[in-house]
Amino acid sequence: MTVPAFANLSTSSSSAAILPVSETAPYCLIVDDEPRLRQVMVHLMRGDGFQCIEAGNGVEALQQLERYPASLVLSDLRMPKMDGFELLRQIRSLYPDVAVVMITAVADVEIAVNCLAIGAADYVIKPYQLEDVRARVAQALEKRRLILENRAYREGLEEQVAVQARRLEELFLASVQSLAEALELKDPYTRGHSVRVSHYSSVIARSMGLDGEMLRQIELGGHVHDIGKIGVRESVLNKADRLTADEYEHIMTHPLLGWRILAPLLGDTPNALNIVRSHHERYDGRGVPDGLKQSEIPLEARIAAAADALDAMTSDRPYRASEMSLEMAVAEIKRCSGTQFDPGVVEAVVGCAERGELTLIPRLGTRD
Ligand SMILES: [Fe+2]
Repeated sequence: MTVPAFANLSTSSSSAAILPVSETAPYCLIVDDEPRLRQVMVHLMRGDGFQCIEAGNGVEALQQLERYPASLVLSDLRMPKMDGFELLRQIRSLYPDVAVVMITAVADVEIAVNCLAIGAADYVIKPYQLEDVRARVAQALEKRRLILENRAYREGLEEQVAVQARRLEELFLASVQSLAEALELKDPYTRGHSVRVSHYSSVIARSMGLDGEMLRQIELGGHVHDIGKIGVRESVLNKADRLTADEYEHIMTHPLLGWRILAPLLGDTPNALNIVRSHHERYDGRGVPDGLKQSEIPLEARIAAAADALDAMTSDRPYRASEMSLEMAVAEIKRCSGTQFDPGVVEAVVGCAERGELTLIPRLGTRD
């Protein structure tokens, strides 16, 4: 190995007393197969406040890194057993937070540049000035500090955002839950209806190839689609006889009312909100509240409309004498294909029923 000229060493550092280093000082690993050159570096780095550990080659260096949490490695390139290039490669994969500065002879500058490409913080060319080493090391550590701080900041932010998102979701679900409970108290016939509509919608949607976030929103929309009924008079909601035209009109204000209640809460789930507003739209344009027709009605609302009707027909409602079987309800939905319901959705409902994917959820109690 070439012995470098130590311009600043002979007169200043080599004879200076080594200052005591704090036990909490960061560790610096000096890797060189030439003990005298290691001593020069140890002296310099101790003077700069590091606890120094040493290794004569890459293999020893990795052993030292297992024992000491070094923040900095100064490594020669040419060494027996494992050279500096291979050592750098290993450190990058095993200890990515360690800053590595390569010490290299002029003849090896090309290799040193390659070292930068695989993650060395910097390199110093022999013969070096100690001040140059100091400056490179300071830069490498500054860069390492920034990377670590940046990562901690980002992780902190991500954690903070995740905590807030979880809290918001909890608050949101609590609000929706209390609304749903209030509605159930007011209208016992709604109990279980929302859960069933959510389930039927989900089965139909999946058979139409929908998944992921859309499916999640469809399930949520099913749960809350009738929330607006909270604003409907109890005498109308629970009326056992047929509704008058005025009463029907009153009850059918619930999609718009529900949308008004939930719009501030469901801003991030527009598909769920679409179900609340548009589940009583009809394919032929004669529905409420907007008189939308065909593809103007969001697909998720077309699906929920069929699921809603399916549950209404198969449930015991105050204004209907008795519930239908699944086959009868599906036949009725099929009869209304192209008028009340989207033919594509009807096809999916029929297919799901035929394949046994759509089965009625048993109702708890007698009149849920
Ligand atoms: Fe409804």
